[in-house]
Amino acid sequence: MKFFIDTADLDQIKKAQDLGVLDGVTTNPSIMAKVGITGKDKIHAHYKAICDIVDGDVSAEVLSIDYDGIIKEGEELAKIDNQITVKVPMIYDGVKAIKYLSSKGIKTNCTLVFSPGQALLAAKAGAKYVSPFLGRLDDISTEGLNLIEDIRTIYDNYGYTTEILAASIRSPMHIINCAKIGADVITSPLASIINLLKHPLTDSGLAQFIEDAKKL
Ligand code: E4P
Repeated sequence: MKFFIDTADLDQIKKAQDLGVLDGVTTNPSIMAKVGITGKDKIHAHYKAICDIVDGDVSAEVLSIDYDGIIKEGEELAKIDNQITVKVPMIYDGVKAIKYLSSKGIKTNCTLVFSPGQALLAAKAGAKYVSPFLGRLDDISTEGLNLIEDIRTIYDNYGYTTEILAASIRSPMHIINCAKIGADVITSPLASIINLLKHPLTDSGLAQFIEDAKKL
């Protein structure tokens, strides 16, 4: 399973890269707003800076919601670096734009996916990634993991190559359950990735080894 980090914070991206487990980065307009980047040139420069840190795909989201605007923005974003994946919302014009961009060899990530039907459309349009938002479904008292399972079944039934990029991850257990189901990718805050390595028996076991090592 690939590990993407869901942030535009360069320090966090460097830290995840330094750990040696990072396969890519996802961003969205809210994430970009958090790091205070404004203006097209600065935003594009920031995406380039992210691409220079990681080796894998970097999702950059379009701000337009009409077909022509999505295409124009998507083509501009794709020129920043060949690691850029154009993130497009699951709307009517977005599906059309994914079909067009994919036919031109531009990688796409279909975002804001909350149902199996939406994921089926994203795959048929040729998206490289589909982003079901697990945590936001949990937030409204539904089981986000059921969506990941349904998409896995549908894609496997027909051999769709669109990668399931489980998004809106809130905890290490989300990551583990996505791995059990067979999501291709998770995108997560750094904390949930770091928390995967923690276990109290590891800590107490190491403390004992350090103590006993003094006797050697
Ligand atoms: C990533 O593609 C999504 O934009 C992101 O995971 C959403 O996460 P949130 O629900 O925590 O905002």
